[in-house]
Amino acid sequence: MESKTKHYYIDSSINTRGFGSQKIARIAFYMKVTMSAPGKIALFGEHAVVWGQPAIVSAIDRRVHVTVEGRTDSMIKISAMDLHVPGVVLTFQEGNKAPVIETDYGRIVNAVAYVRKAIDVCRKHLSLSADKGANVTIHSEMPVGAGLGTSAAVSVATLAAYTRLMGHELRPEELARLGHITELEVQGAASPMDTAITTHGGILYIRPTKPDPYIETVGVPVALPAIIGYTERESSTAEMLRRVKDLRNSNPRVIDSIMSSIGEVVESAKAALISGDLFTVGKLMNINHGLLESLGVSSKRLNDMVYSTRFAGAIGSKITGAGGGGCIIALCPGKEAEVSTAIRIAGGMPIQSRLSKTGLKLESLEQ
Ligand code: PMV
Repeated sequence: MESKTKHYYIDSSINTRGFGSQKIARIAFYMKVTMSAPGKIALFGEHAVVWGQPAIVSAIDRRVHVTVEGRTDSMIKISAMDLHVPGVVLTFQEGNKAPVIETDYGRIVNAVAYVRKAIDVCRKHLSLSADKGANVTIHSEMPVGAGLGTSAAVSVATLAAYTRLMGHELRPEELARLGHITELEVQGAASPMDTAITTHGGILYIRPTKPDPYIETVGVPVALPAIIGYTERESSTAEMLRRVKDLRNSNPRVIDSIMSSIGEVVESAKAALISGDLFTVGKLMNINHGLLESLGVSSKRLNDMVYSTRFAGAIGSKITGAGGGGCIIALCPGKEAEVSTAIRIAGGMPIQSRLSKTGLKLESLEQ
């Protein structure tokens, strides 16, 4: 079914918000730049999008803020005070003023690796020397590494802020492309889905064509009342991508046909979304969850949340993101309270969030 929405490859008309139209424009130097970028929910097609299938993804109103401030030396100092990274335990002992700190360095290093890599990618792209240091401060309104696209948001916001600090300005599609390179280098594999949605916002249909992804906005004529259920992640995105790859290597024909089926679900879901047919959207979410489960990316806790939200009245629910713990999304018009309770009973945390049109945004510039 043909949509009434615009069809286009990304161009500077999408969410340009203060960006120039040249590939690299030189602008004034600033001493402190803050950019913000949204998290996302994958409505359909995660994992399969890494294997060439389309996906549908939406930005949400929870954002990551990245402030980059110039330094007089060449150091890069990263402060991530509220990344919601489960992994730092502070223990205060009687009579001892200093806390004992136990740290899960793996997760923290993983979270800041995107910042380091984004700066490297930016320097390389703009041929900048490594002698200009920066203080980078990150604030996140959502848990990091939970399937809500925080790594892409951190990467793109860091790229945009550091570029500005260095006196350059890149077009949104260039920032999305560099964000994708950042994710690829940190994770080893990634689709362009997360970096595109965090840059452009809205609801996007994405086909990972090369060299540039095909991107189309999906106009949905009705509200999509959804609740996110969060549980702590047991495995990183990179680990989940590796597992799916291993499974595919050992059963290529079976897994390829599951990937193609997910692609079919995405095409049907696009038509259902555009016509505002939420019940069909919900049914397709359930099918997509079953297919993701067959890829081995669900977990008991995720399944408990998926099935209990359906029991509580959700018309569709599925994993969102890479799985292995992390988040589910439940489409639940008129049943938000019941579904939130079901998520809590299943051991998760409900996250109220709205879909959002706003992509990457300049928050402030200080000279
Ligand atoms: O869980 P997240 O937010 O890292 O999302 C990963 C989505 C995948 O499709 C599994 C990977 C990708 O790059 O598209």
